[in-house]
Amino acid sequence: MAAHDHRPLAGHAIMSKEESLVNQKRAWKGGLTLKRSRPFLYTVGGLQKFETDPASRGKGDIMIELKEVSKSYDEVRKAVDQLTLDIRDGEIFGFLGPNGAGKTTTLKLITGLLSLDQGSISVNGFDIEKEGLEAKKRLAFVPDNPDTFQRLKGIEYLRFIADVYGVDQTLRQQRVETLTRRFGIHDVLNQMIKTYSHGMKQKIILCGALLHDPENWILDEPMTGLDPASSFELKQLMREHADRGKTVLFSTHVLEVAEKVCDRLSVIDNGKLLFVGTMDQLKARYADDASLESLFLRLVREGDQEAALAAEAR
Ligand SMILES: Nc1ncnc2c1ncn2[C@@H]1O[C@H](COP(=O)(O)OP(=O)(O)OP(=O)(O)O)[C@@H](O)[C@H]1O
Ligand SMILES: [Mg+2]
Repeated sequence: MAAHDHRPLAGHAIMSKEESLVNQKRAWKGGLTLKRSRPFLYTVGGLQKFETDPASRGKGDIMIELKEVSKSYDEVRKAVDQLTLDIRDGEIFGFLGPNGAGKTTTLKLITGLLSLDQGSISVNGFDIEKEGLEAKKRLAFVPDNPDTFQRLKGIEYLRFIADVYGVDQTLRQQRVETLTRRFGIHDVLNQMIKTYSHGMKQKIILCGALLHDPENWILDEPMTGLDPASSFELKQLMREHADRGKTVLFSTHVLEVAEKVCDRLSVIDNGKLLFVGTMDQLKARYADDASLESLFLRLVREGDQEAALAAEAR
């Protein structure tokens, strides 16, 4: 468990936009200083961007820690290869890499869905293998495939998840109301999940995952399939969560999303870490490259060359 809790005001943690705004105003009026600077939202060329104070990025307590983690599905190659990484409170951390890089495998290792071959992973200081239950209480995982519990109605699914995590009646009602309204699925909660579109299924799983308000959100390509309004809502929820001193780790292929949303990011390929740092640090590494896409391709190409040289040397 992180040594301290940065929540500025008491109350349940998943707040509606209005509640959040009221609380911010109250905090400022009362002369309270929030440990984390509030993000501000601004618009550039019609695109909305989120920003936090760069000085506060990546400096919190370690929430998720990977030490020399390796995983293979077969004898041929490692899907994750000696990965060492830490993700801190108060940050949105992006996980990037080409198809087959090892992102999903890593996220499944962190959430305990896969077992490690080597290394260790802790969530809020709890070892995912030795203290799995305590670690899992502190995280939410949203997989990239939203097909689950087709025969339940949306509301039944959410009640089921709330029961599993022991969310009390009052809180669950407030959170179901807030989350499903924010994602625009409140009106379909009495329909079976099998009648939902792909995006709607994704949203109900997101709502379920966030229902117990875990400290660490782990999301595998969460924006894929969401309409622009929901994608925006999710990004805003992610920012609010991180600004309460908690953690969001998500994988994405969309470089622009990573640039706009992440406080820090990592790039992996062939299961190996190629880069970890801020987008500004990544850009500084290839200062001559204007496009984010070519910068990313260069990084991955360099990784491939290094891997080829290492294979030759063996
Ligand atoms: N269940 C599995 N059985 C065997 N090999 C697997 C399995 N899942 C993944 N792999 C292999 O592990 C490697 C990493 O896959 P992973 O799904 O972690 O990549 P990813 O970065 O999430 O890719 P994508 O961007 O396509 O989602 C790939 O070579 C893949 O073929
Ligand atoms: Mg994947």
